[in-house]
Amino acid sequence: MVHEMPTTGRSWGELREEMLGMRGDDLNWKEGRHGAFVWYANDELEEVVREAYSMFLVENGLGVKVFPSIGRMEYETLAMVRSLLNGDDNTASVFTSGGTESIFQAIYAMREWARVSRSGVGTPEIVAPHSAHPALNKAAHLLGMDVTRIPVGADYAADPAAIEAAIGPNTAGIYASAPTYSLGIVDPISELGAIAERHGLWLHVDACVGGILGNFVRELGYEVPAFDFAVPGVTSISADLHKSGFAAKPASTVNFRTREHRDFARFSFDDWPSGMYSSLTFTGTRPGGAIAAAWAAMQFLGKDGYRQLAADSMAARERIEAGLLQIPSLYVHGSPQLYAFGYGSDEVDMHAVAGEMNRSGWYCGSIANPVGIHVMATPVHGPHAQEYIDAIARTVGQVRSGAAGAAAGVSYT
Ligand SMILES: Cc1ncc(COP(=O)(O)O)c(C=O)c1O
Repeated sequence: MVHEMPTTGRSWGELREEMLGMRGDDLNWKEGRHGAFVWYANDELEEVVREAYSMFLVENGLGVKVFPSIGRMEYETLAMVRSLLNGDDNTASVFTSGGTESIFQAIYAMREWARVSRSGVGTPEIVAPHSAHPALNKAAHLLGMDVTRIPVGADYAADPAAIEAAIGPNTAGIYASAPTYSLGIVDPISELGAIAERHGLWLHVDACVGGILGNFVRELGYEVPAFDFAVPGVTSISADLHKSGFAAKPASTVNFRTREHRDFARFSFDDWPSGMYSSLTFTGTRPGGAIAAAWAAMQFLGKDGYRQLAADSMAARERIEAGLLQIPSLYVHGSPQLYAFGYGSDEVDMHAVAGEMNRSGWYCGSIANPVGIHVMATPVHGPHAQEYIDAIARTVGQVRSGAAGAAAGVSYT
């Protein structure tokens, strides 16, 4: 069917109805049916974020000189994030469209820095644990760099000795996560920082998931290893606002230990009719709304609000985990420290369980190695934890008895 634009425009009322109807088949995130993709806490916060976004829907973040409102909100949001990450007066940041862009800008800066400070390197290489997010490989691919993925340890965390052993003459930097997407493991950043310092390398910490809430979780008394600028040797950190910052998409930050490090992320060009074009982002035009929504979320919640979201996310995880562990043969992979975790079974085909769940109104992300199902617990998952546990218990039973359908392939998107 060819979809042509209507010759005559249609009324908003009619379109609105049609769009609401389209939503009918979408995943019900308001009731916590999602294992990924959405970070939703409550209607009150959603309303603040929605209104802030629409107030600045038209403004362009590329033109902060003509939109000082956006410039101020961007500056203040980045300063708040830097302070959450234990930055100092020298730390410098960039507001980006998401984890992928933050990681791209960090890896780009790492490459440019290596060209200057590590003379003699050939194709620059990043050494990373196998658990690193694919955004790393996407960045390296686009930047003409190599990634060497090293098996994780028995605890599913980066293995510092193996990473150090893999460092070669072309290594520009090390990559680690806080936490990993798949199993929610915070890599041993302190040990990796020491290795980076010893070898004169850049260390990027992908805290896309844990950057905003991670330190609040520690404040609540949980054991969360240090992962930010408090750790010597950490050069850059990606921290997503549209994940644990509970802001609107697209919004993330990439933070550099010093202004000089951030300068390596700049692209400048002036050989065209309009003179100097210089930017620290991959994107050109940037949504003013996303900057406004992030600022509003942080001001509205304050530290107390984020601490509460951290507590609610951890409580949701604990409820889900406790229920899952009552189901025979299920266990959690490793010792995840935050609100993301993965679980598996030695007896039941968990990919078949995920496939069946996904056919019945849930979204369960599958994990291939180790085999399992991924959970990203957020506040909305708490009140719906029992529904999830019941659905998993039922589906595990169906798969055990052979009544459930075939296994789904492992695919994130
Ligand atoms: C650890 C980690 N890094 C990077 C990303 C990429 O972020 P985005 O999808 O916002 O580009 C994700 C996304 O889930 C992630 O979990």
